[in-house]
Amino acid sequence: MGLMLLMSNACTLMQAFLHWTLGSHQQDPAKAKLRSLMAKKASYCIAAIQSLNWPNNPGFWKSRIFLIGDLRSQAQFRAFSGQVSEHTLLHTQIDRFFEGFRRDSHPMAMLTGTVGAISAFYPGAMDSSDPEERNLAYIRLIAKMPTLAARIYKYTQGQKFVDPLNELSYGENFLRMCFSVPAEKYKISPTLARAMDKIFILHADHEQNASTSTVRLAGSSGAHPYAAIAAGIASLWGPSHGGANEACLNMLREIGTVDRIPEFIERSKDKNDSFRLMGFGHRVYKNYDPRATVMQKTAHDVLDELGVDTPILRVAKELERLALEDEYFREKKLYPNVDFYSGIILDAMGFPTEMFTVLFALARTVGWVSQLNEFIEDPSQRIGRPRQIYTGAAMRDFVPINER
Ligand code: CMC
Repeated sequence: MGLMLLMSNACTLMQAFLHWTLGSHQQDPAKAKLRSLMAKKASYCIAAIQSLNWPNNPGFWKSRIFLIGDLRSQAQFRAFSGQVSEHTLLHTQIDRFFEGFRRDSHPMAMLTGTVGAISAFYPGAMDSSDPEERNLAYIRLIAKMPTLAARIYKYTQGQKFVDPLNELSYGENFLRMCFSVPAEKYKISPTLARAMDKIFILHADHEQNASTSTVRLAGSSGAHPYAAIAAGIASLWGPSHGGANEACLNMLREIGTVDRIPEFIERSKDKNDSFRLMGFGHRVYKNYDPRATVMQKTAHDVLDELGVDTPILRVAKELERLALEDEYFREKKLYPNVDFYSGIILDAMGFPTEMFTVLFALARTVGWVSQLNEFIEDPSQRIGRPRQIYTGAAMRDFVPINER
């Protein structure tokens, strides 16, 4: 019943969403296929956002929505959760990869490398024509990503790796693998576990962004799915995309105090200055990113629970208020996006800034594998081949090297 309600609620929202997302592409016939795909994905994305209001939030296990397209029976739900739990451990050889990295390596560098390298452990997944192999590869990726991400964090801290505990939820398990230490008992805060789940859900999929398109493009050649996901991780890393959460928190720290905000807003408007307000603007949303609303409330919940009075939240709220009043931001429809508040939450939880994009990648893996599967299952899809418009010289004379 929950899902029916959720899907019907999603309909009205979806129309609004489609209006925002599709309006600017109406005249472009080349985008027609993409448009129907976006419509399909949009309903899942909004379904995920809506589900946060459920009294019994089913947590991130609803990643199943993305993989099979719908929530079905309790038995199927349990079977899916069980399958993911079965695959949370990593091959012990994988632990040895880390020794090749410096302790101060950027976590995204380690994630890109290790996910690509894991493809060597599962040669069977290369057979993308076999649905069972494909499903197993996707389940493994979803299951192993938190373990891998937590190990990356522990490695940078010089701490012992903590193995997964499958009786816990996805969010709880991840927090425990990151923050428990052998010398102490780790008590999981329900507020933090809920916040973790919300962050994972809100980052799970978001139609054809740079990293998702990269995964589809890389996978379109029949490449190993782990390698395709590694390509997506590389694309996510940049500050215009997944790296914005890291860049946003660094910016809020740099601003430091409320009185310095106007100076930074002015800089972001100056065309001679490359500075932009990180966490503002979106290629698709020309309105308030609905995910940012959930993140803002979650930031308050987490800071209240931890009793943290951080000047960063004050700076963030005032920056948001001033930017929304500013003519430049209003005219260009630049609103806070999902990354504006997520960094504040992750920082309060104790994650170092460099880990933020790793958490984004962990969550987005669900969307990536679903999109990749959808691509492979669609018989009309062929190897990706973006078109090129040649803008070079029409004719050039060849001049031998010794005459140049
Ligand atoms: N601060 C100041 N000006 C901005 C900003 C910003 N954050 N974003 C866009 N603008 C201006 C931009 O200079 C341009 O002005 P003009 O029309 O005078 O040349 C106009 O707004 C349109 O910008 P654009 O770069 O053409 O827009 P885009 O759709 O290519 O870029 C964006 C979208 C998200 C890359 C961009 O808004 C940005 O760089 N934002 C900051 C980084 C960020 O928060 N990224 C996270 C995106 S959400 C999570 C995700 O998808 O990964």
